[in-house]
Amino acid sequence: MAEPVFLSNLTRFFRNQAHFDALEHYVIPALIRLREGGPDNTIKIWSAGCSTGEEPYAIAMLLSEVLPAPWKFEIIASDISPECLSAAREGFYADSRIAGLPDRYLKKYFDKAEGGCRVRADIRSAIRFARHDLKNDAGLRGMDIVFCRNVILYVDEAARAAVVSRLWDSMAAKSFLFIGHSETLFGMDTKFEFLKTEWAPLYRKFI
Ligand SMILES: C[S@@+](CC[C@H](N)C(=O)[O-])C[C@H]1O[C@@H](n2cnc3c(N)ncnc32)[C@H](O)[C@@H]1O
Repeated sequence: MAEPVFLSNLTRFFRNQAHFDALEHYVIPALIRLREGGPDNTIKIWSAGCSTGEEPYAIAMLLSEVLPAPWKFEIIASDISPECLSAAREGFYADSRIAGLPDRYLKKYFDKAEGGCRVRADIRSAIRFARHDLKNDAGLRGMDIVFCRNVILYVDEAARAAVVSRLWDSMAAKSFLFIGHSETLFGMDTKFEFLKTEWAPLYRKFI
């Protein structure tokens, strides 16, 4: 008998803060060094398995704070669940979901709404949400950073290697991948290199 599939949508703003520290202090400076003088000053990010949007919105807020001019960013956020995506596009979060966000983020990036807060339009419009099953090719190429956190563990084991290989194909040469802190690519036949930074471990595609 097939095992029941349990899909968790659990997420929160700045989940695993160490990843966001690594993004700010390691990945962004490294990408700026690597891409400086190149034809494009846009950092392209994919939040794969974005659930209700807290992850891509947190990335957008952080990059709005730390990315120096003339650098810009583009975020594509995808999920298999239409319900999650519609909540993500709406960008409304009840008070309980935004508890713990720094006050300056709440003031700068949210509008107060009945029972909670809504992400401000400029941040919402910085993200393109799309429905996508990671078992298929999303057709994305040249991503500089991919967040695929706490998703691979919901993909059946037989399909995992193909999912990871499609993430690889979506990424630019010299780019970075974040997976969940309890997930690993160890033992998989992949060209991703494990990278231990001062803040958090991550993976890189360095070809
Ligand atoms: C636990 S949430 C992770 C959310 C966010 N990445 C984080 O770490 O906070 C897992 C998400 O993966 C999505 N998901 C599960 N299987 C998927 C698949 N095959 N393709 C795309 N998304 C999938 C679920 O709908 C859910 O929203």
